[in-house]
Amino acid sequence: MADLALAEQGRVRIAWADGQMPVLRSIRERFARERPLDGVRVAACLHVTSETANLLRTLIAGGAEAQLCAANPLSTQDDVAAALADRYGVGVYAIRGEDADTYAAHVVGLASRTPHVTLDDGADLLSVLHGGDESWRGSLLGGTEETTTGLVRLRGLEHDGLLRCPVLAVNESLTERTFNDRYGTGQSTLDGILRATNMLLAGRTVVVFGYGWTGKGVALRAKGAGASVIVCEVDPMRALEARMDGCEVMPALEAAAQGDVFITVTGGRDVLVREHFERMKDGAMLANAGHFDVEIAVDQLAGLASSRRQVLPLVEQFEVGTRRLNLLAQGRVVNLAAAEGHPAAVMDMSFAGQALCVEHLARHGASLEPRVLPVPHEIDREVARLKLASLDVRIDELSEAQRAYLTSWG
Ligand code: ADE
Repeated sequence: MADLALAEQGRVRIAWADGQMPVLRSIRERFARERPLDGVRVAACLHVTSETANLLRTLIAGGAEAQLCAANPLSTQDDVAAALADRYGVGVYAIRGEDADTYAAHVVGLASRTPHVTLDDGADLLSVLHGGDESWRGSLLGGTEETTTGLVRLRGLEHDGLLRCPVLAVNESLTERTFNDRYGTGQSTLDGILRATNMLLAGRTVVVFGYGWTGKGVALRAKGAGASVIVCEVDPMRALEARMDGCEVMPALEAAAQGDVFITVTGGRDVLVREHFERMKDGAMLANAGHFDVEIAVDQLAGLASSRRQVLPLVEQFEVGTRRLNLLAQGRVVNLAAAEGHPAAVMDMSFAGQALCVEHLARHGASLEPRVLPVPHEIDREVARLKLASLDVRIDELSEAQRAYLTSWG
């Protein structure tokens, strides 16, 4: 990690996030009493943030031995990494800004420690475990995956008959679906853009590429901040939904000439390419909130530009003819590279789900099929129940007569 001297600063930051993670805290308290993870080696390839730190503290409280590497070279909070290593006994392999070789070596380092359970955000760790030395996966009981992109890769492995352990699709759990992308990425993507540029959104035109949960969250918040929103979609159902939600919908080449801010959240690649850059207005901002840095074709932008220079710590300006196009955070996931990712109150639910999934895999992983599997429904319900309790919200229960009515055919 970068600098152990940052440990105290990191500890304070972790404690701050913990204050907003009551569900994870209650699981940590139970884990400390019951020790369901005694002797379990957990390897996590996640964004190294204060929220992740609280997940690892929870696993350790349950008896796990934990190792962590970054899921993206730019998302690591170095003070958190230092605190995890110095105060919480986690083996950390992560430095903010590490180059591609160091990043890859860190993932391999983790894989070689023969984990029982893995946690991934993008499937880098499980990919290395499947491609590397066979003995590394000898003890593997299973893994969890936090992103859509990671699940695409893992389903590819499964499809080719190569997946060797069960993987719980945390990304598709109900609690995650409902809250993470829409509220977490939605808010933190704009947070990253604002922190990087300090721009005013009111009166601007924001173009959102992709109207999945994240796109919906980004669009809704941009509108709330006074921007006009254009959505570009390839799926007719989602495009219609965007239109009904009050956004303009049009092909990307038309939107390119109209937008002030472009935000890619498709999970695909080559969403913004040369033809789009050629049409953009002077001063346009380009940001990506998809997992990988392949949505904005930065090499094509560089090829078009007569010069490029760093104008702010997270803004690189490309001169294209008489226009200046501004690329944020190198086209990497802007909510983590320029801000702090999802707020702790959202990560509380995802990481509570992750902690319960690790417990599930430690108990039952050996008897599960080597497939991408849904998160058990009880885990979702338990997370929602604990979150409601933490918010002091009570709900009604069905009466016996109501239950019978809802389950009968007559
Ligand atoms: N992914 C998105 N936001 C995150 C956060 N705050 N911590 C860890 N992973 C994240």
